Formats: sequence, structure tokens, C-alpha cells
Amino acid sequence: MRIRVDPGGRLEGVTRVPGDKSIAHRWLILAATAEGPSSLLNVPPSLDVRSMAWCLGALTDKARPALNGWAANDGVAAEDHRSTWNVEVETGDGGRTGVPLEVEGEGRHGLLEPSQALDCGNSGSAMRMLMGLVASEPFRVVLTGDPSLRSRPMERVAAPLRAMGATIQTSRGHAPVTLMGGPLDGIDFRSPTPSAQVKTAVLLAGLEAAGRTRVREAAPTRDHLERALTTLGAPIEVRDGEVSLSRFQHQGFSGAVPGDPSSAAFLVAAAALTASELTITDVGLNPTRIRFLDVMERMGVRTERVTRREELGEPVGDIHVVGAGAIGPVRVEPSELPLVIDEVPVLALLAAHAPANSRFLGAAELRVKESDRLEGIASGIRDAGGHAAVEGDDLVLGGGGLAGGVIDARGDHRLAMAFAASGLSARASIEIVGAESAEVSFPGFFGGLAALGASIETVGET
Ligand code: S3P
Repeated sequence: MRIRVDPGGRLEGVTRVPGDKSIAHRWLILAATAEGPSSLLNVPPSLDVRSMAWCLGALTDKARPALNGWAANDGVAAEDHRSTWNVEVETGDGGRTGVPLEVEGEGRHGLLEPSQALDCGNSGSAMRMLMGLVASEPFRVVLTGDPSLRSRPMERVAAPLRAMGATIQTSRGHAPVTLMGGPLDGIDFRSPTPSAQVKTAVLLAGLEAAGRTRVREAAPTRDHLERALTTLGAPIEVRDGEVSLSRFQHQGFSGAVPGDPSSAAFLVAAAALTASELTITDVGLNPTRIRFLDVMERMGVRTERVTRREELGEPVGDIHVVGAGAIGPVRVEPSELPLVIDEVPVLALLAAHAPANSRFLGAAELRVKESDRLEGIASGIRDAGGHAAVEGDDLVLGGGGLAGGVIDARGDHRLAMAFAASGLSARASIEIVGAESAEVSFPGFFGGLAALGASIETVGET
């Protein structure tokens, strides 16, 4: 799908964003492996989360009908999925409306050998977390995915799981990945890559391992599994840069998935660039996920956050932004990067509008995301008449704004949405090729942005 974003317009109002993809992945795994029923509200109908639901459906018996039924229901994923936008928003219900996804778990021991390879689609989180989940199972599982996912590194997860006792073959470090699980021993794992996916995979394996499993992180990363397990009563200890746990079987639970702050980031950026006033309600405010607001603050974007409640250990509330239109340059150090890893595209596209140079230092990890995001951001900005370069592992934005042009999203949801937000403040229209990729994490993004006041039109099917 090709869309055109025209500059100008103001976004106004109160909105929600779809449920958090990272949290949904983890809660779906927990629901499918709980002893007893779980009830989940606001599970986002994004393609990545559907992939996870399909894979879990293939690994379970009792949970399968609910998981597959939910994943197959495309009535909620279309462009006109409006439940998140302005007019229909009723604030204050905490995402507790809608039809819950009821999952009947049979415990971790209820997992079954799947009859075919598990297709994780575009989702690195699904593949890596599922590797951790099945590492303890005495059967063979093959995990595969789309061409983007098959090009991403999997040894970072396979290596610690092998050290725990699983047999794992990757295809020269990539998917397809074949696992033959079995009895596991806990490990003391110092993760060389600051990656929440790796940490989560090892912790999921640790829940079925003998002895204690400890993960020491190179830098803090999102802690959703730790929060959920703590709330569910697991023997887990979380200290500075270190998590440890031992064998634990949880019971069923209920919760409403908070709105995804990484999705909210595109709306905050769009409001900031168009001097608009926007409130995003029922969004996750976990400190490991909203560091991008601090980076935006350094660029001159003022936001207020109000925490209103907790869901399975996750703070949830509102983000209010009053954009001023002017954006300042920024410098993001390597130590901060893991906490804004998914927001670099939108932060970089904001920085492209600053009057001076911005730098994201030590950003090599962006090369192995859904696309090579360092290259995709820099060349996309240049295609839109702006200034950007990759210098070693640093991303350098020249500032000065965007003139307009045609950009290829390279099948990457976050690039498509970052360029759309940025286009609202370009000097002429920006066309985005491959805009349908937004459905991977933010179903209905373009329609929703238009409903809030942006001028966005579909101009082609390809
Ligand atoms: C995620 C962790 C991050 C992030 C991804 C989701 C998660 O990946 O980029 O979108 O849910 O744990 P890494 O852990 O590989 O950095």
C-alpha cells in the first residue's frame, strides 16, 4: 500500500493506542502455560501478536481453540479498526471494555509436540521467546519466519539455552531453528547483548530448570516478564542489572494489556511537529519503555504523564503532549540506546527537523531489527530531501527538515510510521511505499492519524 502524507493540519483530541506488543507476547505465553483459565483484554490484533497466538495454539490443546480463533479473526485488524481513536474513546474504563480473550491453560507440562513448523512471521520476539519456552520440552520444534526474520541473529538465544541443556540447531545463526528440548539446569548468564528478548527467553527456560537461573544484563532492558511473574507469585529476585528465578508453575490470571508506548511515540512526535495537543489514555508507563519521552524532552517536546492504575505489575495512565512545533537537536549515548531501541526511527525522524546535527551513538543493534534501520532511516531521510548519514555505528542527522519525496518503508512497520509522522512537517508531500507494514504493530495507524486531523490518503495498492 502506498500512502501520501500532506504537511500541515493539526491533531486534536483524546486517543488510545492498541495494546502493547511486548506485553501481549509475554502474557499470551503465560496464559497458554498457566494452570487454569486466564482472561486477557485489549490484546492487540497486530500481525506479530497473531503470529505468537498461532504458534502457541500449535503447542497446546485446550488453549488452541481460543488462541487460533482470536488469531484468525481479521475483523479487528482492518484499516477501519477505530476503537482506538477519538470519537469512540471512552476514557476511564481502563481498556476493560471489549471481548476478553479467554485462554484455558494446562500448565507448562501441557505443552505438546506441534505437527508442523511454527511460523513466527515477522516477529523476532515470538521466535526468541518461544525458543526459551520449548527448550525444556522433550520433543522437536522447528521455528521459522518471513525473509526478514530469517535474516536476524538467533545464536544470541540459542547459546545460553544450549548451556542449560537444550539441543538447538540454527541455520548458520539464523532461522529455521530446530530445537530438541529436555531437562534443563539453571545458569548464571551474563548477556553480552542488551536484549530483553534474550533475557526473557532464558528466564522462560529457567522457570522449568533445576536450580537457579540468573541473567545479568549489559544494560537495563524492558522488564515485563519480571513484573508479571512477581505479581503471579514466582520466586524471582530483581536487583540492579540482575534477575534470578527458579522453577515455578503459575495459575491463571486476568489483565487488560496497556496501550503500547512505542506506538504512542509516533503520535507524540506527530503532535510535537504540528503544534498539536493530544492526550493518549490507557497507555503503559513502565519506566523501561518511556525513556523516549526524556529524549524528546531534551529536544524541546514537553509531555505530562499521569499513572492511573496497575495491570499485572505494569503502571498504566495517560500521556499528554502540547506540541510547540520547534524541535532541537539531541545526542543519544550508547548506554541509553537499549531503552529507546524501538523508538530510534521516530526520534531520528524528529531530529531531522532540528536546526542542527543530532547523533545516535553506538547504534549497531539497529542493523538487525526488522530491517537494517540505520541504513533505512538515513537513506529514507535523504530520499525525502533531508540530511542523514551512517558513520561507523553512529546515526547522524543533519537537521534542516524534509523537502518531500517518495520513501520505501522496506517492509518495516516502524520506518513506515516514523516517516508518516515526520511528513506532517515536511515542506511538501511525502509518499510512503510499503505502508501496510504498520499492521505489524499498530493496526489502523494511518486511518487513525487521519481521524485525529492529519491529511493522509491511500494513493496506490503497492
Ligand atoms: C522486545 C525487545 C526488543 C525490541 C522488540 C521487542 C521485547 O528487542 O526491539 O521490538 O518484547 O522483548 P531486543 O530485545 O532484541 O533488543
